[in-house]
Amino acid sequence: MPLHCTTAVSTLRTLLQSQFRPRSSSSLTAPQRNLFTPRTASCTMASAVAKRLAGKTVVITGASSGIGRSTAFEFARTAAPAGGLKLVLTARRIDTLKQIATDIHAEVGDSVKVLPVQLDVSKPDEVRGFVGKLPEEFKEIDVLVNNAGLVKGIAKAPEIAEEDHQRNRPDQHDTSHLPIFLRRPNGGAGDIINIGSIAGREPYAGGSIYCATKAAVRSFTDSLRKELIATRIRVLEIDPGQVETEFSVVRFYGDKAKADAVYAGVDPLTPDDIAEVVVFVAGRKENVVVADTLIFPNHQAGAGVMHRRT
Ligand SMILES: NC(=O)c1ccc[n+]([C@@H]2O[C@H](COP(=O)([O-])OP(=O)(O)OC[C@H]3O[C@@H](n4cnc5c(N)ncnc54)[C@H](OP(=O)(O)O)[C@@H]3O)[C@@H](O)[C@H]2O)c1
Repeated sequence: MPLHCTTAVSTLRTLLQSQFRPRSSSSLTAPQRNLFTPRTASCTMASAVAKRLAGKTVVITGASSGIGRSTAFEFARTAAPAGGLKLVLTARRIDTLKQIATDIHAEVGDSVKVLPVQLDVSKPDEVRGFVGKLPEEFKEIDVLVNNAGLVKGIAKAPEIAEEDHQRNRPDQHDTSHLPIFLRRPNGGAGDIINIGSIAGREPYAGGSIYCATKAAVRSFTDSLRKELIATRIRVLEIDPGQVETEFSVVRFYGDKAKADAVYAGVDPLTPDDIAEVVVFVAGRKENVVVADTLIFPNHQAGAGVMHRRT
């Protein structure tokens, strides 16, 4: 998109310059003057988003893989031209997070600061202590992406293992950052971006606990948005359909063949597709709230409505 935008504008500019070259720019209207002004930014929209993100601190849970990992890269790439972004990447696999931090630095350099932090969101003590343990320069969180999540198995009640009952419910209702948001002017400011799922809208057999968890995310998100109506805090939900990540490998306890079968004959979304939406909603003007989105790949029209090629 930025490439097309730049190409179209420069082609138009070249054509018009060859037809109509003014003696002085003061004789031009503002739109005409625009055409003769050299531009370095690739597209006004991209640079506006980069400027809006400049100086912000973004926390992403579940950043070691899939959607969370892609979201970290997408924020870094988008914000890098304006600089000043701080990313806090959290998950249980700290070594993976450190590698991602290194890779982001290799790609965008010092314009984005990345802090990897080990955090298990299913452990309330760790969640409670998280903000307090952050280094001072990362404490002023502006955007929280509540993305960490998993599901184990496809068992139906009453065969669902006790530990899977628990494991399928990582805590997405973390409000430990809210006091930071609420201290800001105009009743408070900041973005809470919750990653839900089509599973939260359409419960399916073999996913009862996961679907219930995602339905809870949806209700919690909607309630919170209403509770915070007098503030400038934006509460946003993004519900992906099928995305190919480690999600199915985890669901099938590491059985790659079973995970691959989920995506056979279909074109699932990539984690980058969802990451682009996350950064899009965070990059809107403060008064624009993309409250709710449902994102399918082209072959999907519901939790169980897929077209398979063979
Ligand atoms: N893939 C899909 O089709 C799909 C569709 C709709 C919604 N979603 C949602 O998208 C989100 C991301 O999933 P994904 O597809 O990107 O899967 P993924 O590749 O398996 O990534 C899941 C991430 O969550 C982290 N995580 C899991 N349990 C955690 C815990 N207790 N504490 C901290 N981090 C934890 C994992 O990190 P560690 O293992 O290092 O802790 C990993 O970084 C989830 O909320 C999922 O429900 C996925």
